[in-house]
Amino acid sequence: MELIRANAEWLYLIGAILFILTLRGLSGPKTAITGNRYGMIAMAIAVLTTFFVADQPVIWMIVTAMILGGIVGIARAKTVPMTQMPETVALMHSLVGLSAVLIAIAAILHNNHLVNLFYINEASLLAAGVQHAHMNKVHLFELFVGCFVGAITFTASVFAYGKLAAKKWAKTISGTWVKPVQAILFIAMLICGFYFFSTGNMPSFWAMTILALIFGWVWIAPVGGGDMPVVVSLLNSFSGWAAAGIGFTLENNMLIVAGSLVGSSGAILSYIMCKAMNRNIINVLFGGAMGSTAQSNSVVTGEQIQRNYRSGSADDAGFLMSNADSVVIVPGYGMAQGRAQNAVKELANLLKEQGVRVRFAIHPVAGRMPGHMNVLLAEADVPYEDILEMDEINADFPATDVVLVIGANDVVNPAAKDDPSSPIYGMPILEAHKARTILVIKRSMATGYAGLDNDLFYNEKTMMVFGDAKKVVEDMTKAINGTGH
Ligand code: TAP
Repeated sequence: MELIRANAEWLYLIGAILFILTLRGLSGPKTAITGNRYGMIAMAIAVLTTFFVADQPVIWMIVTAMILGGIVGIARAKTVPMTQMPETVALMHSLVGLSAVLIAIAAILHNNHLVNLFYINEASLLAAGVQHAHMNKVHLFELFVGCFVGAITFTASVFAYGKLAAKKWAKTISGTWVKPVQAILFIAMLICGFYFFSTGNMPSFWAMTILALIFGWVWIAPVGGGDMPVVVSLLNSFSGWAAAGIGFTLENNMLIVAGSLVGSSGAILSYIMCKAMNRNIINVLFGGAMGSTAQSNSVVTGEQIQRNYRSGSADDAGFLMSNADSVVIVPGYGMAQGRAQNAVKELANLLKEQGVRVRFAIHPVAGRMPGHMNVLLAEADVPYEDILEMDEINADFPATDVVLVIGANDVVNPAAKDDPSSPIYGMPILEAHKARTILVIKRSMATGYAGLDNDLFYNEKTMMVFGDAKKVVEDMTKAINGTGH
C-alpha cells in the first residue's frame, strides 16, 4: 500500500500511456481488441492507485459504490442490443457530467476549501501569502468551469438519452423564443459563475449550477432526433473536459490526462461525423433539424410523384450475384435494424466459395452511430481485409459487376453528387450508382434518415428486392445454394 502511494505518479503515468495506446488501438478493427485491453488495464491502475492514494478513504462507501456500479454495468453490457448503444452511451455521459457537478460541490463544501474561500474573502487572511491566494483563484476557476460544463453535459445527455430511446418526456422544442432564452440562460450562468470566481460567493455558485442544468436541456431540446448521434459525440467530448477540469480540482494527473483524451477525441469524432454528413456543427447545435420528423414528412409529401422502378425476387438477385466476378456489399441502417449481419456473412462466404470476389463498402455515417457497420460486421466475423472504407472502394465501383445495397439509402443517394438543390448536396457518398448492376434490399420505397427520395432506386441498372433484410438475404443464400455457379 505504501509502495503504491509512493509511486502513484509513476503508476498514473503508465495508466496515461496505456490510455493513449487504447485510442491508438481503437482506431483500427485489427487492433481494437488489444486497444480495449489496454483501456481495461489503464482503468484498473487508475482506480486502484486512486483508492490507495486517497486521504482517509471511507472504504465501505467506495467498495459498495464500486460493486453496485460493477453489477449495473455488467448487466447492462450483457443485455443492451446494438441498436440501443447510442442512448446507452448518452446515459453514461450524463453520469460523467453528474459526477463532475457532485465533485465540484463536494470540493467546495469540504472544510479545507471553505477555509480557502474565506482566505479570498477576508483581506486580513490574504496575508497568508499571495501565492496561496492565487492557488485559491485557480481552484475556484477549475471548480466553476468543471461544474458548469458537467451540469450542461448532465442534462443535455439525459435529454439525448430520452430522445434516442423515444421517451415521451424528451420533447423537441421549437419557436422563436428558443434562441433568446438560450442566450439569456447562458449569459446569466456565466455572470453567476464569474461572480463566484471573483468573490467566492456561494449563492452565485448554486445559481450558476441550476442555470447550467436548465441550459443543458434547453440547448439540446431543439436539436432533431436524427442529429442526436452528433450531439452524443459532442457531449462525449464535453464529459471529457468536465472530467479534466475536476482532475485539476482533485490534483489528480490521471483524471486530467484521461479527461483531455476523451475531450479531444470526442471533438475530432464530432468533426468527422459532421463532415461525412455535410453538416456544420454550429448548424446541428443551433440551426434547424435535418432528419427531424417535421422536415422528413414535408420532403416525403413533396416527393410523392409516381416514378417507375424495377423489382425482382431474392432468387433473381441470387442468380445475378452467383454469376458475377465481383460483388460489393453496401450495408446501411436497415442491416442493423433487421439484424441481418450473420445472414450477410453467410451469403458472402457462399459467394466466395463460388469464386466471386466479395467486399464490403462502409460509409463513415452508415447506420446511426459511429462505426455502426464495422461493429456489426466484426460481430459476424467478417474478415477485416474484406471491409473497405469509402475512399478505398469508390474508385472500384465502375468495374464492379454487382453492388448489393442492404438497408442503405442516404449514403448511396446520387443527389449528393449531382443535385445542387438537394439538402445532402456535397455529402460524400458510396458511388454504388456506377456499378454495372445494382441490387437494393429494403422493405418499401420509403425514404431514409434524411427524408429524401433516392434516384438510385429508379436507375435502369437497379433491381429492388423488397422485404426484411435478414429474410431476403437468407432467401438469396438459399437460392444460390440451389442454383450453384
Ligand atoms: P438510411 O438513409 O436511414 O436508410 C436506411 C434504409 O433502411 C431505409 O430507407 C429503410 O427503408 C431501410 N430499412 C430499415 N429497416 C429495414 C429492414 N429491417 N430491412 C430492410 N431494410 C430496412 O440509412 P443509411 O444509408 O445507413 O444512412 C445513414 C443516415 O443516418 C445518413 O443520413 C446519416 O447522415 C444519418 N446519421 C448517421 C449517423 C452515424 S454516426 N452513423 C449519425 C446521425 C445520422 P424501408 O423502410 O423501406 O425498409
